[in-house]
Amino acid sequence: MYKLVIQGGKPLKGTVKVAGSKNASLPILFASILADTPLTLNNTPQLSDISTTLRLLMSMGAEFILESDSSLFVDSSTLTNLVADYDLVKTMRASILALGPMLTKYGKAKVSLPGGCAIGTRPVNLHLQALEELGATIEVKNGYIYAETKGLLGANIHFDQISVTATENVIMAATLAKGTTTINNAAQEPEVSDLCHCLNKMGAKITGINTSIIIIKGVEKLEGVQYSVCPDRIESATYLVAAAITRGSITVKNTNPQVMRAVLGKLIEIGADIKTDKSSITLDMKGKRPKAVNIKTSTYPNFPTDMQAQFTALNTIAEGHSTITENIFENRFMHIPELTRMGAELTLEGNTVVCKGVKSLTGAHLMATDLRASASLVLAGLAATGTTTIERVYHLDRGYETIEEKLKLLGASIERVQD
Ligand code: EPZ
Repeated sequence: MYKLVIQGGKPLKGTVKVAGSKNASLPILFASILADTPLTLNNTPQLSDISTTLRLLMSMGAEFILESDSSLFVDSSTLTNLVADYDLVKTMRASILALGPMLTKYGKAKVSLPGGCAIGTRPVNLHLQALEELGATIEVKNGYIYAETKGLLGANIHFDQISVTATENVIMAATLAKGTTTINNAAQEPEVSDLCHCLNKMGAKITGINTSIIIIKGVEKLEGVQYSVCPDRIESATYLVAAAITRGSITVKNTNPQVMRAVLGKLIEIGADIKTDKSSITLDMKGKRPKAVNIKTSTYPNFPTDMQAQFTALNTIAEGHSTITENIFENRFMHIPELTRMGAELTLEGNTVVCKGVKSLTGAHLMATDLRASASLVLAGLAATGTTTIERVYHLDRGYETIEEKLKLLGASIERVQD
């Protein structure tokens, strides 16, 4: 196992290039199951979740070639094993995205229930109900989802609750169903739109992209194509917060400010000077201490839950009081006790954290628990006086490509060391 050792207090300066989106790459990789020919993906991030997905696809009979740092050739056109096994699914919940494609392409699928994780119970009822409305017979037993169909039929689906991967599972299942499927109350996250753009390039007929009503006209078949994954907006925003919390000034390149309005609005509110062009964002704190900002997480285009922990870290050293309310997941506060050990003044009241900004945090020995909580501990360590050590760095590697290398390029004093 590895840990990160950070000497805090250095303002970040310079330019960082972000990778392709993890949460767009994952559904698009599973979409390769739908294609009769191989898919070539560019701008895919080098993350453990991507390798897990490739291992899972390989266990089902797919083949892949990593052509360069971020170009992947994936042939999932003829699966020989329609099972997503617990051993792989337990390490990555997004494996549930194998269900819709396998079911609509082969009429059969056995997928391990993903189980919960640090941030919540993470049920999949919305996925299963919607697939049943498309004509699947679904049984859940011994920890597995058994799904079968004689052929999916388009339906009018309404999600009572907005779910990103449930929307993605249904979109993929509907592409090869007979007839038209309408998804009402669909998730509008940019990663859902990126999946739809890739599917349409493969021959799907999807309209209503970027809206809450997505319409999919079923087609006979889909072909593999060359597709470049959209930038990772959460990685981009995390580096911007790293600059803000250290009173630095950085430029994030290969990103898309158009899908980050809620986050950029909050960074302006803390007192950052923000400049954007088509594919880059520059944040400059001009050496000033950030001002506290209230956060309420919600679905896109509102403030993303995946940035809540990072903004909580920012608020701990900001000027003034703030409240951070988590409305999406029931337990996305695993970073709170660790930040408190660094001297943060945080009180959890239900799903709201009340924060009183302190002048500075002190470095401490910390434990990472989940992907975005770990990112928030890194940010706190960058700002704290003294040394911060963060154990179980594998959580970070799921969603941040070579994080210590990118932070070092921005002037941080950070090392990855073996336990
Ligand atoms: C996706 O997870 C992302 N993961 C998450 O990113 C992100 O936090 C989340 O969307 C919200 O934006 C991927 O895209 C791979 P949901 P997902 O279904 O789809 C409840 C990260 O850090 N729900 O939109 O699993 C659920 O419990 C990860 O990159 C049901 O009740 O999230 C939650 O409270 C973490 N039943 C809410 O809906 C269901 O069947 C939203 O979850 C499905 C979800």
